[in-house]
Amino acid sequence: MELKDLRVNGKRLQKTLEDMAKIGATPGGGVQRLTLSDEDKQARDLLVKWLKEIDLEVTIDEMGNIFGRRAGRNNDLPPVMSGSHVDSQPKGGRFDGILGVMGPLEVLRTLHENQVITERPIVIVDWTNEEGSRFAPAMVASGVWAGALDRDWAYDKTDINGKRFEDELIRIGYKGTVPCKKSPLHAYYEYHIEQGPMLERSGKTIGAPKGILCLHWYDIYLEGEANQVGPTPMEGRHDALCAAAEMILKVNELPERMGGNMVATVGEIQNYPNSRNIIPDKVHFTVDIRSWDDDLAIDAWNKVSDDFKQIAARRGCPLRMEETWRVEHSPFSEKLVQGILDTAAELGYSNLHMISGAGHDASYMNQLAPTAMIFVPSIGGRSHVEIENTTWEDCTAGANVLLHTMLRSANEK
Ligand code: GLV
Ligand code: MN
Ligand code: MN
Repeated sequence: MELKDLRVNGKRLQKTLEDMAKIGATPGGGVQRLTLSDEDKQARDLLVKWLKEIDLEVTIDEMGNIFGRRAGRNNDLPPVMSGSHVDSQPKGGRFDGILGVMGPLEVLRTLHENQVITERPIVIVDWTNEEGSRFAPAMVASGVWAGALDRDWAYDKTDINGKRFEDELIRIGYKGTVPCKKSPLHAYYEYHIEQGPMLERSGKTIGAPKGILCLHWYDIYLEGEANQVGPTPMEGRHDALCAAAEMILKVNELPERMGGNMVATVGEIQNYPNSRNIIPDKVHFTVDIRSWDDDLAIDAWNKVSDDFKQIAARRGCPLRMEETWRVEHSPFSEKLVQGILDTAAELGYSNLHMISGAGHDASYMNQLAPTAMIFVPSIGGRSHVEIENTTWEDCTAGANVLLHTMLRSANEK
């Protein structure tokens, strides 16, 4: 068979995704595989088994990243890498992340059974803790690998129950010995569901984002004065939750106030002591600001943090603000993005040049090597929810585009 006629096995990809979706399956049809949980471990074990079945050389680094390497003809050349993550959001979907690991696995199975040898080696990767919902920030292990984040800083991150990242990594048996450190890459491809409505709205099958928005995360801590709600008059209260409520609306109003392309969200909040008859004396909430324009996002934060200070002062609620994480917007390699659009067209799939609002490990890989992503439609534009869905046909289409873009890069001398 000529290389150009090679296609992935869509049924096998479907079965692989269905088997993975059993791990951490939720009653609402999604999955919950929080980073470094027992479910994350089960998914990793299954992945490692599958990687070994096709003779990949498996390594696990000290951040728990899993790599499967397939030799090429010239193993001195930097490899082509593709991967994503097996962890999920709480009550997340069956496609976010895992499609970007099962997709390249299907590509490598296809190469394996057809005995295709590429010029360069190919590496598949599962990055630890892409989601950042159990341990903030997100994309932490690809960030450490890229040299953008510090390993020991990541190890010390704790979840809401005070469990340390490194301790949990050891507990599930995935703290490897290989240093988490970048090595030369020829190209990085990440296959992912779109997680938004653009492909569906435009009736297109394949998306090639020109890049990813910047992501800025903050943590806000407020203090108030607890008291019995009945006898305590309204005047003179220091209600931390009311201060937070005012602040949350300021965040929601931010994109309109700033103009330009921006989204801003408060997605997580803890209120203490969280009793209906005690005035709240402690609140923590998160702020997420994203834009293509990093300066606009920083300007937005400066404005809204000034508002926070004023609200806190007026309500007599001491305020502490932490900048948790910033990753700059990532403009992908134009050559690779064009390669994805061209490959999609050659394979007969309609395609769209777009933008990614969701964060991906590709952001950090883009700092190291030419990088691009392949998107397929999310039904109803829904993601990070249990009903997240993509048709099997589209999953197969994206995997075929991945196959041929990876082949092209892996055969470059
Ligand atoms: C990643 O899941 C993100 O928050 O975009
Ligand atoms: Mn993802
Ligand atoms: Mn996600």
